[in-house]
Amino acid sequence: MHWITVVIFIIGLLNATFKLISSDTDQFLDRTTIVYASASTTFVDCTCRILRHHSGLDTKGAYPCLPLAAGKVWQCLYLLLLLGASICCIAGSPAQRPSPRILNIQSLGSTTSNLPNIYRDGGGGGKINGINFIIFSDSLYTSGGVPKSDNSNLVNFSSNSLAASNYDGRAIQSLFDFGTTQKGPKQQIPYYYDGGENDFTTAIWPNQGIATLCGGICGVSFPSVINRTAISAGQDSRSVLYNTPIQISLTAFGPVVTRPTQRLFIRGEPLFGGFGTLVGTDGYLYLFATITKTADSNGLKMARVRQHSFADRSQYQYWNGNSWSSKMPAYADGGAANIFSYSQEFLGILYGPGTGDLFYSTYLGQYVLMFQADDPAIDRNVYVSYSAAVDRGWSTPRAIYQTSTLPGGYSYSFHAYPNYDSSGRVIPLSWSEYAPPNTYIISMASLTFA
Ligand SMILES: *[C@@H]1O[C@H](CO)[C@@H](O)[C@H](O)[C@H]1NC(C)=O
Ligand SMILES: *[C@@H]1O[C@H](CO)[C@@H](O)[C@H](O)[C@H]1NC(C)=O
Repeated sequence: MHWITVVIFIIGLLNATFKLISSDTDQFLDRTTIVYASASTTFVDCTCRILRHHSGLDTKGAYPCLPLAAGKVWQCLYLLLLLGASICCIAGSPAQRPSPRILNIQSLGSTTSNLPNIYRDGGGGGKINGINFIIFSDSLYTSGGVPKSDNSNLVNFSSNSLAASNYDGRAIQSLFDFGTTQKGPKQQIPYYYDGGENDFTTAIWPNQGIATLCGGICGVSFPSVINRTAISAGQDSRSVLYNTPIQISLTAFGPVVTRPTQRLFIRGEPLFGGFGTLVGTDGYLYLFATITKTADSNGLKMARVRQHSFADRSQYQYWNGNSWSSKMPAYADGGAANIFSYSQEFLGILYGPGTGDLFYSTYLGQYVLMFQADDPAIDRNVYVSYSAAVDRGWSTPRAIYQTSTLPGGYSYSFHAYPNYDSSGRVIPLSWSEYAPPNTYIISMASLTFA
């Protein structure tokens, strides 16, 4: 238990109404707790939750916080009891539930393909009909060597591509692409030409995992549709138009991607599914949205939908911080609806999580969140957080790995792949490496929990 918990506890007893926890306490306190507290709960209950978190009791579930209605007196008595339990933790046994131990993270180097000379970024994957797939963003295809700045060796370009991993049984970083050696990888996701999209000013950039649905034989994902004109004009904040639901099916001629509807969530709303999905055992698909570059709302938000209705916006429900609601939370809501909160400051701007994946590990018996921050490719650390529940209780993110970069370049688009090992013990990782003028490669590593 941290000293700050004790201080907060004492202040809490003196004045039972929560008013303020300054944001500079973030590094000590679980962000989720702060968010919970600011959602106008009483200070007592907040303190109770902080104690639960920092004493490590939360994961055992033996000390549930009292409902607010139970009255202050009982809450204070309860807190005294908890404080006693926590002090006994300081004095004796280890206070924190130990984080899962990572045995090792082995670099696998960069990916290879049956189609030589693909240079691309993005990533995220999943299993379709028993085969592990990875989906990518912009791909440059050259006649040999890295793309030249004058495009003289550029053969073709596609906004996205899909590859089977370890299809040849050699290694997971050995990819099988669909296309031809003459033309390069096929652009897989179709445009809505009569909906204003086209090959020149539109891009579709997959950068999230693929949910396995349809009883195992299709994959569903929610990539962003991009306005290339805005990107060329340096208007990054206007570059994402909306996200789109895609369904991947396998045929004798390779994967076929369809878009049941053009747009699902639009810029300004949380782009649910943009950070990936979780296939529930309860018939729901859970979708996560990244919140970034806000003053106090950065983190992840969550929605759910019946699995077969993934493309029907009217069927969605949204997590509001306490329960499911048909009302979508605002993108910047002070973090009230966040399931996870995270911010990293760079040059005065607060960045939330960037890309990553959230999954359940049966091996660890808890949910695992791995991500890279959304800063402009400055921080090459991979962060991990664990929780017994999806909607709250995430441990303070810890840096576990530094992605490799090309000389003079940077890394981004980190992803974790829980689909290779159903136990959740061995988790392949991937990220994109960029080096000027035009080189983009995908590298991988393999993480094994102890
Ligand atoms: C580029 O690839 C696409 C398939 O994704 C193909 O239709 C097109 O003809 C190719 N262009 C060239 C110049 O090879
Ligand atoms: C794309 O961005 C450009 C430049 O800001 C803008 O003029 C255009 O309307 C945008 N297109 C769409 C479909 O929003």
